[in-house]
Amino acid sequence: MIPRTHTLKCLSIAGSQGPTNGDAHLQLFTIASYLCHQRSLPIMTTTQHACRKYFPALEQQPEVIYLDSASTTQKPSSVLAGMMEYYQRYCANVGRGNYTWAQKVTDGISSVREKVATFLHAHHVSEIVFTSGTTAGINTIAYAWGLHNLRSGDEILYCPDDHKANVLPWLHLQALLQRFGTIIHLIPYSIMPSGEIDYEGLRAKVSSKTRLITLTHIHNVFGALNDIARIRTLVGKEIVLSLDAAQSVGHLAVDVQELGVDFLSFSGHKMFAAPGTGVLWIHTRIHDQLAPFLVGGEQEIASPSGAGEAYLPVHEMPHLLEAGTLNIPGLLSLGKAIDFINDVTLTTIEQHGKTLTSYLLRHLQQLPEVIFLPGIAYSQRPLGYGILSFYFEGYTASELGFILSSHNIYVRVGTHCTRGRAAQQDSVRISLHVYNTTEEIDTCMAILQQLTNAR
Ligand SMILES: Cc1ncc(COP(=O)(O)O)c(C=O)c1O
Repeated sequence: MIPRTHTLKCLSIAGSQGPTNGDAHLQLFTIASYLCHQRSLPIMTTTQHACRKYFPALEQQPEVIYLDSASTTQKPSSVLAGMMEYYQRYCANVGRGNYTWAQKVTDGISSVREKVATFLHAHHVSEIVFTSGTTAGINTIAYAWGLHNLRSGDEILYCPDDHKANVLPWLHLQALLQRFGTIIHLIPYSIMPSGEIDYEGLRAKVSSKTRLITLTHIHNVFGALNDIARIRTLVGKEIVLSLDAAQSVGHLAVDVQELGVDFLSFSGHKMFAAPGTGVLWIHTRIHDQLAPFLVGGEQEIASPSGAGEAYLPVHEMPHLLEAGTLNIPGLLSLGKAIDFINDVTLTTIEQHGKTLTSYLLRHLQQLPEVIFLPGIAYSQRPLGYGILSFYFEGYTASELGFILSSHNIYVRVGTHCTRGRAAQQDSVRISLHVYNTTEEIDTCMAILQQLTNAR
């Protein structure tokens, strides 16, 4: 067993010029900006890891090295406390009553909606629809927008290498429409070895029939950041753009105005909040193109005034797309998660992610057994956002996962919910977040080095 100390080193963030060229540049890191803004947490100025302390599962199990944040992040104590406070002090439904607890819940959820709108730079709170996650968000786009706006001959551009949550809803929509005699076409576009979308290839696929392009901001296996604003410029203003931002929100500043998209989906549990929470942001300009696919609860439908007239839902956005009781504790935790991120600052999180990813890349590149999947390993600008995936010659991904797990190092193995290139063979994915350190990477690398030496 490789020994591990409790004094964890991180990379220098403050004043950093970006990823450094060598270990000589490593400095002890405290997340100064986070600490400065903390009201309830004690100031730390030492060499200890400044962030792990705020994540009880990590703090209470110091032997664990958690390298699977792209699956789900650990939860800070402030997020857990926010959920417990709801259950223990004012457990009532939202928007359903005028007694004190009900009002407090309603106000709390409104304030989370405002926080999310500010976080994304949305124009208005009516653009923020609460969902159960990215999957639910993209399905909502398919059925609330797609079912009501697509006609025979229309085309949707999609990437078969994306997470299945960004592929299957479109295939399902196509099959559903076909049952009612509407034939739409799904046109695939591809990804370059750098892990980024093939921008020119995508543009070449656009036709006068293209109605929607579905995109991913940061790929869940390849880890590259796509230039979404560039795609908007390439394809013009008319085509609807839907963005899967599951791996970017909470990792870097996401500004819906700058991106130029129409829909953006993400999951709360990948940015420190509870599972079963998410957001679908929808630009106001297409609100009049939406119809709900779930109805009930507090919603209402207009009475038909004449024979044959359909019952039409008459709710305003965002409630038009929020039938039924929301995940109240989960959404309250999303508000707390945004507070946490704002305290740490997105700049710090992004810089830490980039620096750690390039550190990990440099070390993995030294092992001849490592074969990278598409991503920053093949990029001219190897700027990572916390995700690296690879095969390790001589071991299956599953074997490697077991070996690492036996050393309390938790990574993801498999096909990572994809059905394209990354699904051809199981791989190992390491994903990092603000609580990870270079020392943790060193420990992981020492295990891999032992496997190399044993061959
Ligand atoms: C890029 C991407 N899209 C969609 C999803 C699905 O997210 P959820 O399961 O939270 O709906 C994930 C989850 O891993 C993802 O990484």
